[in-house]
Amino acid sequence: MQLLDGKACSEEIRKEIKKEVENIVSNGRRPPHLAAVLVGNDGASQNYVAFKVRDCDEVGFDSTTIRMDSSSTEQKLLDKIIELNQDSSIDGFIVQLPLPAHIDENKVILTISPKKDVDGFCPENVGNLNLGLPTYISATPNGIMELLRRYEIKTESKHCVVLGRSNIVGTPMAILMSRNTEPGNATVTLAHSRTKNLKQLCLTADILIVAIGKTEFVTADMVKEGAIVIDVGQTRVPDNTKKSGFRNVGDVDFQNVKNKCSYITYVTGGVGPMTRASLLQNTLKAYKRNKGA
Ligand code: GUN
Repeated sequence: MQLLDGKACSEEIRKEIKKEVENIVSNGRRPPHLAAVLVGNDGASQNYVAFKVRDCDEVGFDSTTIRMDSSSTEQKLLDKIIELNQDSSIDGFIVQLPLPAHIDENKVILTISPKKDVDGFCPENVGNLNLGLPTYISATPNGIMELLRRYEIKTESKHCVVLGRSNIVGTPMAILMSRNTEPGNATVTLAHSRTKNLKQLCLTADILIVAIGKTEFVTADMVKEGAIVIDVGQTRVPDNTKKSGFRNVGDVDFQNVKNKCSYITYVTGGVGPMTRASLLQNTLKAYKRNKGA
C-alpha cells in the first residue's frame, strides 16, 4: 500500500505558484488577490477559510476575508457579491458553503460572476467543464485529478466508482474521470444513496472515490484487493483526548481498508490540502484571465 500524500503534493504546487508570483511581482505587477466570504460561525468553515488565507500568504497572494453575521439577510450577501464582481482589485472569490438555512445557495451561486468563480460552481463554468472547454474546475475534483497525475497513476480503462453525486464533488469527479484525458478515460459509475447492491458495486471498482459524507462508510469488505481509494470525507467527531475536542474522520475505514489498497488517501493530508492547492491554481488562472493589474 502506498499513501497518496496530498500534503507533500500540495506543497510542491504551492512552491510552483510562489515562484510564478515572485516573477509577476518582480515585473512590477500586483500579486493575485483572492477574497473569501464567510457567513456565520460554523467552526469547520472558519477553519477552512483560515487555511485558505494562510495558503494565500504562503504563495504571496493578497487575500481578503469578508465576515458576515449568521443573521445577515440574503440580499446583503447578494449585494456583497455584486460588489466583489465589480471590484477590479479582486481576481476571484469564494462564498464558503454551507450557508445559513435562510439563504438560497443557488441564488448566491447564480450571482457570482463566472469570471471570478474560482470555486467553479456557476452554471457557465459547470457547463464548460461538461463540454471540455477552459473553465474553473471545482477545487476538490480538480485536486484529486492532480494527485492522480502527480503519482502517475494509470486510470485508462479502469472502473472508477464515485460514491456521492454532489454538485461540487461527485458529479464533476465522474465527468473528469470519464473524459478523454490522462488521468481520465476511466469507465465511471456514479453511485449514490439510492444505488442498489452498493457493496457488490464497490467490489468491482479499480478506483473508488468516496464523497458520501458518512463516517467510515466504506469498510474493508467493500474494497477489491489492489484498489485505489480516495477519501473525500472529513467529519468532525467529538474526541476528549484531542486538544481541539474533536478529530476528523473520513468516509473510509482507513485502518482496515488500507491493507487491501494499492494506493489510498488519509483523511488529513490527503484530499483536503489538494483542494486548497486547486483553489490557488484557479485564483492564479483568474488573475491571468482577468489580466490583473
Ligand atoms: N464548503 C466545502 N467545500 C467547499 C468548497 O470547495 N468551496 C466552498 N465555497 N465551500 C465549500
